[in-house]
Amino acid sequence: MDFPKDFMWGVATSSYQIEGAVHADGRGESIWDRFTHTPGAIKDGSTGDVACDHYHRYREDVALMQSLGVKAYRFSVAWPRILPQGTGEVNQAGLDFYSRLVDALLEAGITPFVTLYHWDLPQALEDRGGWNNRDTAEAFAAYADVMTRRLGDRARYWMTHNEPWCTAFLGYDMGIFAPGIKDLKVTLQVSHHLLLSHGLAVPAMRANLGDGAAVGIAPNFMPVYPATDAPEDRAAARRLDGLFNRWFADPLFGKGYPQDTWDLYGENVPDVQPGDIETLAAPVDFLGVNYYNPGTVADAPDAPPPHLRDVSDPDLERTADRIIYPEGLYDILVQLHRDYNPPALYITENGAAFHDEPGEDSRVHDAGRIAFLEAHFAQAARALKAGVPLKGYFVWTLMDNFEWAAGYTLRYGITWVDFETQRRIPKDSALWYRDFIRKHS
Ligand code: FCB
Repeated sequence: MDFPKDFMWGVATSSYQIEGAVHADGRGESIWDRFTHTPGAIKDGSTGDVACDHYHRYREDVALMQSLGVKAYRFSVAWPRILPQGTGEVNQAGLDFYSRLVDALLEAGITPFVTLYHWDLPQALEDRGGWNNRDTAEAFAAYADVMTRRLGDRARYWMTHNEPWCTAFLGYDMGIFAPGIKDLKVTLQVSHHLLLSHGLAVPAMRANLGDGAAVGIAPNFMPVYPATDAPEDRAAARRLDGLFNRWFADPLFGKGYPQDTWDLYGENVPDVQPGDIETLAAPVDFLGVNYYNPGTVADAPDAPPPHLRDVSDPDLERTADRIIYPEGLYDILVQLHRDYNPPALYITENGAAFHDEPGEDSRVHDAGRIAFLEAHFAQAARALKAGVPLKGYFVWTLMDNFEWAAGYTLRYGITWVDFETQRRIPKDSALWYRDFIRKHS
């Protein structure tokens, strides 16, 4: 596998999944605090109240990353730590935490990649309609301004949103993520406001960051394949590609909403005000790609719209929760490069959950995860060779953590976390990754 010497090998996390300390230093309530404390919302009844206690242990976690030789760390900022009410008064203690984290990373020779929104909306904003309220887009831009003003001298890589599809569809359509709403019309309005908030934030961030910084976004993408070569199945795959990928990427890259998907949504389409389409297409310096699995669909005329049937290959190997298809990473990278030609791409998340545990030797022999990562790295190398301007790769995730609706039942970490004692044990995959990075840089 060939990678440039300056390739950004990293790990990723997010605020609510690792920080804990939900009442510390003036942090406001987030929609995930509210949601996790709602009976029945989380598989194991758990919450992120403590999680990995990273808020108090960040120095240890930075030292762990340094020992693994990672070059970059993608983390997210908890908006309610910065603006407990979502807007208005800035909580200095919250800002100071991220400032200390950035300093610790730089001292350890690790480049910070900051995500502004990884799903923990201030509850105060949700109380006013959340992302369904257009004002939330303005509030986000103001928050982005505060963050880049304060940290922009030291943190030079920024992302607005993590996985807007998940924010909108899991949170507002399926209701399995906070805030737990089930309303397609609201979902599509939310998706529009998310993109709008990105477009409003980017120029404000750029103004604070000046030259030489990079601003992007990290959506999740899914390569979609037809069950057969029949025209009906190919059209079905095209529909799902529109619903999942193009609905977000087309407008971001100046193509407006895809007409076929717009038509599919009928009366549920969002209210788009004059100028929005131009605003949300603010040029980015890079596109982040979160990749986990592909989709394979057949046409299903008898199923409700959009008439799709999931026929993902039952013979493919699986992680604890998904099918494994490394070639999908290559396919989606090539597709995004071909259709949108962003100046740079990063894999901002890729990784796997397995039910691994420490053995009698107190080590975690997660051979499955090593094989998973190696196969996906090979596809990234293939994409580079095919001309995709891929600049980095962030493994999800540094350590086992609160996996949203699955609680602590899914372990995605390259580090084992004992949630009783907060002991961290680098799994074999972490040591393998350390050696891989060393060899390739
Ligand atoms: C992604 C999320 C991340 C984590 C992984 C497994 O969708 O961005 O927080 O939950 O999945």
